[in-house]
Amino acid sequence: MIDGKKVLFSGMQATGNLTLGNYLGALKNWVTLSDEYECFYSVVDMHSITVRQDPATLRKRARNLLTLYIAAGLDPKKNCIYYQSHVSGHAELAWILNCFTYMGELNRMTQFKDKSAKHADNINAGLFTYPVLMAADILLYQADVVPVGVDQMQHLELTRNLAERFNNIYGDVFTVPEAYIGKVGAKIMSLQDPSKKMSKSDENPNGSIYLMDDPDTIMRKCKRAVTDSEACIRYTDQQPGLKNLIDIYSACTGNTPDQTVAEFDGKGYGEFKLAVGEAVVGVLKPLQDEFERLSKDKAYIDAVIKENAEKANYYATKTLRKVQRKAGFPDRIR
Ligand code: TYM
Repeated sequence: MIDGKKVLFSGMQATGNLTLGNYLGALKNWVTLSDEYECFYSVVDMHSITVRQDPATLRKRARNLLTLYIAAGLDPKKNCIYYQSHVSGHAELAWILNCFTYMGELNRMTQFKDKSAKHADNINAGLFTYPVLMAADILLYQADVVPVGVDQMQHLELTRNLAERFNNIYGDVFTVPEAYIGKVGAKIMSLQDPSKKMSKSDENPNGSIYLMDDPDTIMRKCKRAVTDSEACIRYTDQQPGLKNLIDIYSACTGNTPDQTVAEFDGKGYGEFKLAVGEAVVGVLKPLQDEFERLSKDKAYIDAVIKENAEKANYYATKTLRKVQRKAGFPDRIR
């Protein structure tokens, strides 16, 4: 608790081009939850280097992502928006938690298996212990709730297990966090292959809508989205492409999937795809305009970076000192 409010933590990697999946599965919910909780939203740049990065590109993307958080509607006076690498406590707590995590637990992580298959020439120890750094992110702020897409659930489970394991040995040190998964949009699939999640690293650019795609591109990608030959608008697993479009439309308009099905009852796929495209443009265009505006205000963004890093460091250090003491590290002499 901070000032009587429960704490929320979440983060996003500054790797690749963000997709509509990142927005609907995470960022959009962050904005909705931001009044209710004391929020920490991190640009997790340290996670990004588990895959080889060009330094200048990473720096630029990290800044763009931080700006995008604000453009999406997160007020940096109320929400702590900061770079993970500006708070050394993340790495320090990750080390301690590493010593409480079993190899077998990390071996089971599906993201590790996927990423090591994709980057077979660079299966580094950071890729393996990635979920422990993620646990440290969350536990460092004593977060009660963590809004994420479905793909992060396994990492969240590990985080809860580590918190409970530590608490069982040393007493109540960590808050055990709960995942927050949105009702619609928690797993947006590729527009070209609805059996795969929409991903920044998809080789087929038509499968993903990127947050910075212009309206024509968005409309074209929606029109080309893979559906089926049933010619009937229903929300079922037998029509996965259509189901995904219903999810996208519902998440963009605030409808439930049932309301969307009722709205398009008897209409053709062509008409529906057009409406999906327009709904996505309606959500992304204001975001893009605000991003452009904010990007030009260097002094403002710099001030946000500085002030919020101080705030994050303050809360992170509080937890870290407590954990270090429990672990048996000598007290600092003041
Ligand atoms: P990342 O950067 O891959 O994704 C950021 C957020 O977007 C969600 N997401 C999706 N949601 C719905 N449909 C999709 N197709 C889709 N693709 C991505 C993700 O679930 C995530 O919520 N390890 C994390 C970053 C991280 C983190 C943390 C998150 C590091 N530390 C602590 C929460 C708390 C990751 O790589 O997310």
